[in-house]
Amino acid sequence: MLIKIKNNYEISQNLATSQDIYSSRRKILKTMAVLGAGSVLGIDILGAQTRQIEIHKNIYPYEINSSYSQSPLTPYQKATTYNNFYEFGMQKEDPYHRAHILQTSPWSVIIDGEVQRPMKIALEDILKKVKLQERIYHFRCVEAWSMNIPWIGFELRELLAFTKPKGNARFVLFETLKQADMPGVKNPSIVGYIKFPYYEGLRLDEAQNSLTILAVGMYGKILPNQNGAPLRLVVPWKYGFKSVKSIVRITLVEKMPVSTWMGLDSSEYGFYANVNPHVAHPRWSQANERFIGEGFSFHRMPTKLFNGYAQEVANLYTGMDLRKNY
Ligand code: MTE
Repeated sequence: MLIKIKNNYEISQNLATSQDIYSSRRKILKTMAVLGAGSVLGIDILGAQTRQIEIHKNIYPYEINSSYSQSPLTPYQKATTYNNFYEFGMQKEDPYHRAHILQTSPWSVIIDGEVQRPMKIALEDILKKVKLQERIYHFRCVEAWSMNIPWIGFELRELLAFTKPKGNARFVLFETLKQADMPGVKNPSIVGYIKFPYYEGLRLDEAQNSLTILAVGMYGKILPNQNGAPLRLVVPWKYGFKSVKSIVRITLVEKMPVSTWMGLDSSEYGFYANVNPHVAHPRWSQANERFIGEGFSFHRMPTKLFNGYAQEVANLYTGMDLRKNY
């Protein structure tokens, strides 16, 4: 049984909490749910809790899915100031300083290609149809740093199902907004002449895996522009560059698409980009990673195959040579 928390103060409190209070409250709620104390607070006795998020002036409920948990959380301040969003520059803090110009509302997404029901759909119409959840995923960048981030999003397969993929659809191509005043678009020399829009792709069965989500929020709040507002992909068993930001188009295709990084250097960045400690990047090892946590802590830890999600996704690659299909 799910009971919504309806009081408005709950929303503003949630939006205002620091990451510390946020994470300890998540822990307390989980414990109370396990103890069965939840019914008085609108918490499902099996551990699910429903909260609310404000996106472009609308309020949407989301459920905390405690099956996906990681600790400790990366502080909000770090996850939102140490970013890769090359449309805004090459330095990690560039997106934080410059992404305020991103126009995120109104926002719609075109879904086309090998689907029976192609559509252009407004973000708010998507959000009325899907089930929002919070999941804490481990996020591993190909540059060998990692974070634990509580995303709020929905399973991509829910959205794809509305479009009825045709039998010959085998891959999914994602496209980021290209806005004329993005610094990297206006002045390509500052970003090493990366060609925009930014593209990424997945195999259709990867896109339909339950771990693959489209995020609209993080840490209980709307997604900040620098993190890919208002809608970005999160594929937790793959290197972070697959998690394309600010998505405006999703196209189902028959042939494996060429993503931005493959186009730049396919010897360094393959299509699959599955996190794999045994397959080094040509210029550095992928055996370990630097976890970005509290304070100045840069805890080094071993990298796990499929970023720790092998149980859920290893079967997608049965019989494949992961060294060749990097
Ligand atoms: N999407 C777009 N459109 N442009 C980008 O430069 N960078 C990718 C990915 N998605 C990128 C993008 C890379 S390299 C990483 S590691 C992640 O976004 C970083 O996400 P974060 O800034 O939220 O940590």
